[in-house]
Amino acid sequence: MILVFGSLNIDLVALVPVIPGPGRTVLAPSYQAHFGGKGANQAVAAARIAGPGCVLMAGCVGRDGFGDRAIENLQTNHVDTALVVRSDEPTGCAFITVDRAGENAITVASGANMTARASDLPVVLFGPDTVLVLQMEVPFEQAVETARRTKSTSGTVIWNLAPVPQKMTAAMVTELLAVTDYLLVNEHEARDAAAAIGFSPSDYEAAATELARAGNLTCIVTAGARGALAVTAEGRSLRAPAPHITPVDTTGAGDTFVGAFAAMLHERVPLQTALEVGCEAAAQKCLKPGAQAGMPVRAAIPSLA
Ligand code: RIB
Repeated sequence: MILVFGSLNIDLVALVPVIPGPGRTVLAPSYQAHFGGKGANQAVAAARIAGPGCVLMAGCVGRDGFGDRAIENLQTNHVDTALVVRSDEPTGCAFITVDRAGENAITVASGANMTARASDLPVVLFGPDTVLVLQMEVPFEQAVETARRTKSTSGTVIWNLAPVPQKMTAAMVTELLAVTDYLLVNEHEARDAAAAIGFSPSDYEAAATELARAGNLTCIVTAGARGALAVTAEGRSLRAPAPHITPVDTTGAGDTFVGAFAAMLHERVPLQTALEVGCEAAAQKCLKPGAQAGMPVRAAIPSLA
């Protein structure tokens, strides 16, 4: 079972000529509403590859229309929503601007996501076949507790350290590394995490090496068009290339990698294959607008066809 404990959002997306800086306003012709939230995105990406009956989402939405739609969308994508709880807070909402190059800037209003609790997850979920997927859009201590429960039953913990909190302390990173088997980050997140625990890495590979050693884990860095790098606790490096594409919207590309990677770990494929499938899935996602629309099904992944 792939268990995703994380956020569910509705994404309100405006296509802009340029992403505005502080004090600036830009006009967009219109906006679109998409399904999002790093947790929900990763659950959908995993389910499209792993298939029905493999992915369970745990998190919180509000007692509102956005919450209804977020749950329905997961069910349409064959994600089990039995552990999505209703909260008195509004459903999470992300305000996203996307520029002509497909780059984005995101503000997340967390709402109900901050009421997610590890205690809502029954004991029966945890065991050696559990692959737990975490991010940073629900309360950190609740995510740590879920990871501890997974580790105590010999399950596997994948932690996507995104978004990096504004005040990420050394204690937080140390706590996270202690309960994680696979740390998934982008280049900036890798450097920020390494810096938080006292390293000054020259580049993202050095950061991944320090994080892998410090946590006795495998650190995976997604580097956009440069593909993905994995560094194991012993210092072994593996790389996978990114397919050459012209991106329309990179929102959710990292989530697609994480979901695809989780699906592959669940199947116990070699790490190299999991990296390649993650890169192929993330590239395909970037060809369609919105976080989830472009996420590929299994048959569309060249390495799995
Ligand atoms: O990673 C992309 C996601 O981040 C968006 O879907 C948005 O909801 C934010 O959580």
